[in-house]
Parts: sequence; structure tokens; C-alpha cells
Amino acid sequence: MLRIAYVNGRYVEHADATVHIEDRGYQFADGVYEVCEVARGYIVDVKRHLDRLNRSLTELRIDWPLHRSALQIVMAEVVRRNRVRNGLVYLQVTRGVSPRDHFFPPAGTRSALVVTSKRTDPVAALARAEKGLAVITVPENRWERVDIKTTGLLPNVLARQQAREAGAYEAWFVDPDGTVKEGAATNAWIVTRDGVLVTRPAESGILRGITRTTLFEVATKLGLSIEERGFTVDEAKQAREAFITAATAVVLPIVTIDGQPVANGHPGSLALSLRHAFFDVAEKIPA
Ligand SMILES: Cc1ncc(COP(=O)(O)O)c(C=O)c1O
Repeated sequence: MLRIAYVNGRYVEHADATVHIEDRGYQFADGVYEVCEVARGYIVDVKRHLDRLNRSLTELRIDWPLHRSALQIVMAEVVRRNRVRNGLVYLQVTRGVSPRDHFFPPAGTRSALVVTSKRTDPVAALARAEKGLAVITVPENRWERVDIKTTGLLPNVLARQQAREAGAYEAWFVDPDGTVKEGAATNAWIVTRDGVLVTRPAESGILRGITRTTLFEVATKLGLSIEERGFTVDEAKQAREAFITAATAVVLPIVTIDGQPVANGHPGSLALSLRHAFFDVAEKIPA
């Protein structure tokens, strides 16, 4: 089946979808992005994702490429044209195309927009969740503004590759004091021996994940309490459960950290319950 991408106002064949060599995203990683889950034909939590996009654009002084409502229509259209029922929709906005220069481009330069969508296999994803995953830990080496969802992801790319080469799925960035920040592309959580969910506050040092935000509501619905505080790698290893969240993963249990088992080394039941309840609680817009 033909894959379709949206590039700066046009729906084009994915294989022919290109941007200019002087796109600021290509030259400087001068851009931001969002990834929404598509589940059962719905785009999940799109309002929260577009709110966060607005925040990222505002922080970096990049203009919206389209009116927000038009962008939402393009996202749905890309999902539809690719016949994605379960998968992802990705959007990227850069500061546009301009002769290479660190200064911002001249006034009037239009920001650039790319939207793509791809299928994922929900059966394989569930099997992965039920098996549980390994994480490794790596020293935090990113800039301080990781609250902005920029396309500048080189430390994340290197950390994830290191994880893969160690036979793990994700890498957790850890501060010098042993506190876990977040994964290279996911937020990090533990469940204490008393059944309390713990995740680091999102005021600084991590990306405020949309899945994380919605999971607060899911947890409340399941009668679980949440503590927003830092936790160390050692605490995570001793915890009842550990798990990660992201739009690309929903909730995935972690069963080993740096090769050592979390609790009995089996996926946690609370993590799997949260994963199960997520879709019902999240906002869903038909694509
Ligand atoms: C560094 C980082 N933290 C957390 C997340 C999870 O965010 P969300 O739940 O919005 O996908 C992501 C997602 O890409 C990420 O890149």
C-alpha cells in the first residue's frame, strides 16, 4: 500500500517526501515534534499533545505552521490516507528554510511542517508488555531544557543505541546523585512496596509526558495514589514494580535494571492494569 506524508502543504508519496537541505531542522535541529498514539482508529490525547506543541513552539519562538485546528485536520487526514488503525502519527515543525546562519531567519520565513503516520502491531506490543523489558542506566548528559520536545535528540539516540547493544529496550538518564530522570524516549515510574506510584516531578529535568499526565487520571480511577518525587536507581531495583510510559509504548513494565531484577523479575500487575485501563480514560478523537 502507498504510504503518504504531508510536507509543507502537500500530501505526497512517502518515498518522495523531501525537505530542503537548508531546512533549519536539518541544519541545526531547530525544530520540535510530537508523537500521538493511534488506537482502534482514534488519535489519543491530541489536545494535550497540541498544547505541549504550543508550549515547545513558544519557548523556542517558532511560529505555528498552520492554525491549530487545521493541523489537527492534517493529522487525521494523514492517519486516514495511510489506513492506520493502530500506530502513530508524527509531526515536526522547524523554523523553516533559510540560508544557513545561526541567527533566526528573516521575518516572514514560514515554519516548515511534516506529518507522517505508521502502523504498529497491537498484538506484538501487548506481548512485549506481558514479557517485560530491560533498561540500562546512563549518566545524564543532556541540556537543561529537556522540557522542550525538540528534534535535537543526539544524547537520546546514543543512549537508546547503547541500550539496544546491551540487550535492553530503554536507557534511563541518571543524575550524579543516583536519581533517575527519565528514559531516552519515555518517562520512568516505580511502584513502592506499599503500592504507591512514584514518578519524578515534571517541573524540571524531564519532558512532561502526555502519557504520564493521562496516567495520573487512570491511576485515580483505579484508586491508586501517586507521589511526585525523585527516586534512585537503587530504590527502583528494590521496588515492587517499575515501568515506563510514552505515547509510543503506553505503559511497559520493566523487569531488569542494569541486568538486576526488579522485585521477582516479572512484569508488575499494577503496570499491566494501568496499561489496560489507559485507552478508556484517554481523550480519543476519531481519525
Ligand atoms: C525524553 C522523553 N521523555 C518522555 C517521553 C514520553 O512522552 P509522551 O508520553 O508524551 O510520549 C518522551 C516521548 O517521546 C521522550 O522523548
